Amino acid sequence: MLFSTSLLAPLFAVLAAASPLNLPRVISPNHGTIVEPTSGTVVASDTAFPFTYQDSNWCEGGYTPITVWLLDYAPTTDNLNATGQFLDATYYFGAYLIGNFGLGPIGPELPPPATLTMPDVSELPVGSDVYLAVVETANNCPPGNQPLEYGLTSTLLVTA
Ligand SMILES: *[C@@H]1O[C@H](CO)[C@@H](O)[C@H](O)[C@H]1NC(C)=O
Repeated sequence: MLFSTSLLAPLFAVLAAASPLNLPRVISPNHGTIVEPTSGTVVASDTAFPFTYQDSNWCEGGYTPITVWLLDYAPTTDNLNATGQFLDATYYFGAYLIGNFGLGPIGPELPPPATLTMPDVSELPVGSDVYLAVVETANNCPPGNQPLEYGLTSTLLVTA
């Protein structure tokens, strides 16, 4: 007998302890690319700015759900909760569904819009760093019936 349950139990305990709060989230190092806005773009309150996100689609799904957020700090995947969301976002732009392989919209979530509108950030000093973050969900990972995987990317915006 190579592995007994009693030998493995401490190993599982260590693995469980290594996972913050033991959340069943699956964070992926994969993510797409925020093509627009480019890093350092200055945006005033209530002003539209161009938005283009190229999804990674690392599990090659037909449709890629994304959520888009504004944060007042540079986010990492440690800031995502078990459902791939931020609890401390400055603003939530919304959830969108990207059709891959030329697939058209199926709703109810719409494709990402070509522009997003900066919320009222007038409480922040002019020149403050804020971050536009995109969380991409992979829902088609092999071999099937796998947990959702969340990937994160962000880009710097500067308030005007
Ligand atoms: C994750 O955060 C969102 C708020 O952004 C909240 O609605 C959701 O319930 C949270 N999920 C978990 C599992 O904590």
